[in-house]
Amino acid sequence: MPRIGESTPGFDEPLGLLRACHRRIAERLDLLERLASYVVVHGSDESASAAARRVLDYFDRAAAHHHEDEEEDLFPMLRKTRGRAGWDDRLPDALDQLAREHPLLGSHWAKLRPVLIAITRGQWVREFRCDDLLRAYRSHMSLEEELVFPLADRLLTDAELQRLGSSMQRRRGLDAKADAGSRNREDSAEGASVPAVGDLQEGQSVRNPGRTGGGVTSGPSRS
Ligand SMILES: [Fe+2]
Repeated sequence: MPRIGESTPGFDEPLGLLRACHRRIAERLDLLERLASYVVVHGSDESASAAARRVLDYFDRAAAHHHEDEEEDLFPMLRKTRGRAGWDDRLPDALDQLAREHPLLGSHWAKLRPVLIAITRGQWVREFRCDDLLRAYRSHMSLEEELVFPLADRLLTDAELQRLGSSMQRRRGLDAKADAGSRNREDSAEGASVPAVGDLQEGQSVRNPGRTGGGVTSGPSRS
């Protein structure tokens, strides 16, 4: 599974880019899950603050763009493919469900956001519950990855994929002529700009944060 900092597809491969965005979201969800366990023991220390900022940076910006990519471009495009070779009758209901879930994900996020902001400020938080967000996001992305993206691979024409990629690029305020520079900027920039997160770095567990070296066990894989 590609990790942060590794190359991801450009806007000329919009479905690859959407899948890459899912990997980033999954990584942030895993980090969030570890953070929730961590603050119970350690409070809002420096590592917790850095991890909270990393989650905030991603969901405030890149994840919001991702929802728009789907709702404003991919889903409407797919609805128009009825009758093409490879069409699946489950698709319209799945798209309706996914579109309904986006605002729900937004409301889960809105509830959690002030808690993360408090952690970035080093404040003690009374309650940190992220189970609803984790469950909702993971199930939402599963439906997209198992049904919608494979159908998009089959159903969309080259011209439609090009239109999808251009729209995603415009949404991020990136110039199509500067594709080489814009490639993966959103993901790599947010990965590089945040501080190191110590015990809460992705791929590590917080179960035994006081130990270093081999003492930190691997976190759950979402590949
Ligand atoms: Fe998605």
